[in-house]
Amino acid sequence: MLIKRPDPIRPSEITSESNYLNRRQLMAGLAAGIALPACSPQAAELPAEGELANVAKSPYSTDETPNSYEDVTTYNNFYELGTGKSDPARNAQYLKPRPWSIEVSGAAENTGTFDLEDFIKPHQLEERIYRLRCVEAWSMVVPWVGIPLGDILKRFKPTSDAKYVAFKPLVAPEQLPGQRYRTLAWPYREGLTIAEAMHPLTIMAVGVYGRVLPNQNGAPMRLVVPWKYGFKSIKSIVSISFERNEPATSWNMSQPREYGFYANVNPEVDHPRWSQATERRIGGGLFAPRIDTQPFNGYGQEVASLYDGLDLRRYF
Ligand code: MTE
Repeated sequence: MLIKRPDPIRPSEITSESNYLNRRQLMAGLAAGIALPACSPQAAELPAEGELANVAKSPYSTDETPNSYEDVTTYNNFYELGTGKSDPARNAQYLKPRPWSIEVSGAAENTGTFDLEDFIKPHQLEERIYRLRCVEAWSMVVPWVGIPLGDILKRFKPTSDAKYVAFKPLVAPEQLPGQRYRTLAWPYREGLTIAEAMHPLTIMAVGVYGRVLPNQNGAPMRLVVPWKYGFKSIKSIVSISFERNEPATSWNMSQPREYGFYANVNPEVDHPRWSQATERRIGGGLFAPRIDTQPFNGYGQEVASLYDGLDLRRYF
């Protein structure tokens, strides 16, 4: 497989000035596809386990209390590791998140296969405490660690044909026992419009609770799109493709009447088999009152304008 790394940095960019670049400039540099010199302290690679150091706090975080680490890592949906909520944690040991490479294809100038280490640098990481609302009408509050997806995507210079971004995870039945069954047509597939993918709330997460993402949460990297039902937040991504047309998505392919492409959290559009008006917060106990579900999961102020003129009952 062709392993393509970003172009080497120009000598003029390795001067002492680079030591004084602030974080914003560094991120802009990375967004433009500039690699850091190997000797720079920022050139370190993402650790494969343990703590993620120097993670910045993000102003995009909710001030709600996060669920416990145990809730976040033992009550999961990850069909490749089983369909029960405790299956992903039990089968997590089989997934091997290193080495990991990601194929970038489609309507972009810089395509190819990239190592995880080139994709995300540790100094870019921020903590984002987001609500996650599952289509099954439960929710959690999760302190993710990641970087805005748009900062990653811009490096590949999408062309004007890139109207959508499609994502696929690993296919490896020997690591992912759920793939030995036809619960879904593997690979799991997800997609976003380019505007959704570039929106600053959309992140690629590599950690949770300040630590490297556990396998059951989608190691080594997964999407988090906080205003959409959880199934859009695809885990263990190995393929990103810039597309001209709306890509096929797993849940829509499997049950088109129940799951649409957009999947924006919407208390006014019920699932055909249950109401989406309220949700159960995981960890609250059996008798905790249900919470009213917010349009766009409470992120409407930031994202509603993406859908101006779109009938959200039809495009559910
Ligand atoms: N990604 C993959 N590859 N496979 C899956 O089955 N399930 C989705 C999403 N991402 C899923 C996936 C669903 S339905 C939800 S609710 C979230 O992951 C759950 O994320 P969490 O387990 O980290 O809370």
